[in-house]
Amino acid sequence: MNDLGRLEDLPQAYLDALSAHHLLPLWPSLRGVMPANRPSTRTIPTLWRYSDIRPLLMQAGHLTPIQKAERRVLVLANPGHGLDRMQASPAMYLGMQLLLPGESAPAHRHTPNAVRMVVEGDGAYTTVEGERCEMKRGDLILTPSGLWHEHGHDGTAPVVWLDVLDLPLVYYLETSYHESGAAQRPCMHQAAGSGAYPSAGLAPTQGLRRKSNPYPMLHYPYEKTRESLDRLADQANGTASLTYINPESGSDALQMLGFYALKLGPGKSCDLPAQSSAMILHTIEGRCDVRWSHTEQSEVSLGTIDLADTACLPGYVTIHLANTDAERACYLFLADESPLHRKLGLFEIRA
Ligand SMILES: [Fe+2]
Repeated sequence: MNDLGRLEDLPQAYLDALSAHHLLPLWPSLRGVMPANRPSTRTIPTLWRYSDIRPLLMQAGHLTPIQKAERRVLVLANPGHGLDRMQASPAMYLGMQLLLPGESAPAHRHTPNAVRMVVEGDGAYTTVEGERCEMKRGDLILTPSGLWHEHGHDGTAPVVWLDVLDLPLVYYLETSYHESGAAQRPCMHQAAGSGAYPSAGLAPTQGLRRKSNPYPMLHYPYEKTRESLDRLADQANGTASLTYINPESGSDALQMLGFYALKLGPGKSCDLPAQSSAMILHTIEGRCDVRWSHTEQSEVSLGTIDLADTACLPGYVTIHLANTDAERACYLFLADESPLHRKLGLFEIRA
């Protein structure tokens, strides 16, 4: 690679003249914005331990009433992007949200797409466009762009969930905003909402017509996800993965981000191939050793992700997962930016 001219090679008077006209030379920065063979990534492999997050989140419950917070969230900020940027990766935001018994988070809707992965607790619910979704551990609940949603909690213990949003992208595009609204009245019967999809391969019809709703399924109960993973893994040497999809279109559940569930049986391991998108890992059950590598380098350990821990890895690295427990299976929730990359024509997998 030939070296290009540097900024300091140019006379200051010339640089001042460029600045005066809102101009700058490309060549000193060209290799930085388009490096050879592989992009430079700001996203740093990062592990957030739930044992670190939980006490601080509970402290937030004492320090800040829900009325003062609206959403009581600790943001999982990737140090490579800087704490103030609220980014786990280029397009993904992660937040750990706490709702205490009797609390509610008022109705709003916003342009960023969001999902919630329930981490602990029973009795909370999210109402999305009138559909009440009970929140049980491991459940995935969608709140797509523009859909009204609010949270409530009728249980007796704290409820915590992991929020995943495409907020960094939507904010970057200068399209991020919210609207506040009145409390919703739950109105949808199970037969008309997410519960209308009891089996893979079957879709409800009215007069033999399929639904035109772009987001027909908002609630993916963990009980069903786990059953499906177990059934698949039994036929595939103990390891299986599933993609959360829109049951009407077969496409990803949301437009920008992809969501997956992965089972590693006792003693099993697998590699996630190097892809252009960053990857989020979150442990629903069990524990898992995480290592990563560039093709030309040796593996680097990120550590063991234990129950409810969350990790982020940049794109263009191979991710090596190993469940070293000889007795217990490991169940992971994964999120990435691959739907967005595909739409932009940027998606690639490196051998
Ligand atoms: Fe929201």
